[in-house]
Amino acid sequence: MTRLKDRIAIVTGAGRPGNIGEAVCAQFLEEGAAGVVATDLRDGEAQALTDRFGSERFAFQPHDVASEADWQRVVNLTLERFGGLDILVNNAGMGMSGDSAKLSLENFRKTMDVNLYGAFLGTKYCAPPIAERAAMHTGGGAIINVSSMAAYMPNAHNIAYHCSKSALRMLTLCTSKELGPQGIRVNSVHPGPIMTPLLKEAFKRYSKAGMYASPEDAERRIAASSPLGRTSTPEEIARLFVYLASDDASYITGTAIAHDGGVGSVF
Ligand SMILES: NC(=O)c1ccc[n+]([C@@H]2O[C@H](COP(=O)([O-])OP(=O)(O)OC[C@H]3O[C@@H](n4cnc5c(N)ncnc54)[C@H](O)[C@@H]3O)[C@@H](O)[C@H]2O)c1
Repeated sequence: MTRLKDRIAIVTGAGRPGNIGEAVCAQFLEEGAAGVVATDLRDGEAQALTDRFGSERFAFQPHDVASEADWQRVVNLTLERFGGLDILVNNAGMGMSGDSAKLSLENFRKTMDVNLYGAFLGTKYCAPPIAERAAMHTGGGAIINVSSMAAYMPNAHNIAYHCSKSALRMLTLCTSKELGPQGIRVNSVHPGPIMTPLLKEAFKRYSKAGMYASPEDAERRIAASSPLGRTSTPEEIARLFVYLASDDASYITGTAIAHDGGVGSVF
């Protein structure tokens, strides 16, 4: 499999085993990527990731996506280590439950810092080197923003997360207009329920907030909300990232693609 042959990618939020970022790194490498830099705030699993992927075409970097200095360091390191950059996956994300009465301004800001401003900073620092190599590929360079079906579905108990993912959709649209002339396609992926550590934590938060009777009840009812009657695996959604990053998606930009098992179709 060589759909990403010679491509170099940065994937944020890829430091947690079993999550979407890790699955994306795995499939980018399987598709022949020349270099994948996984980054994450948490670095406790860095060695386990390197053991899994090897160190020839893979590197891990500790990274706070909300930090401008961290972005500059990660991009410089990627250019030094692999000689360029073609793909950015803005995948790092976090959620803090709360309605307007309970959520503090600080926690609202923190959510925006990671989910929205992190992607803005990634775009700011990665687009110039991606543009430099865009003409090398028929599909140009690619930026993939990981939004959510939350971008479209209001939820009284999770206003910061839903607002941040909705704004990330608009960041995708604006930057697709800005960067298209430079050969960079920018798209957003909107996951529905993907069985990762984040979703398992969300089940607990939702039940604590009174939205479901228990985490198990949340899991059962959320799975049942898909016409397919189940949640997705990270590996299933990772295939979509390969598609969007590859020449197969050469005329796809500014698009929002749902990977939600039809959950959003009820809205
Ligand atoms: N799993 C789902 O059902 C689902 C649904 C919709 C959207 N999403 C989105 O998909 C993305 C990946 O989520 P996941 O399910 O794999 O969850 P996850 O929690 O396993 O992955 C998110 C990663 O982002 C990292 N992170 C958090 N703050 C960071 C920061 N400041 N800097 C760098 N890294 C940081 C976390 O450490 C974590 O490893 C997120 O953006 C999430 O909002 C997931």
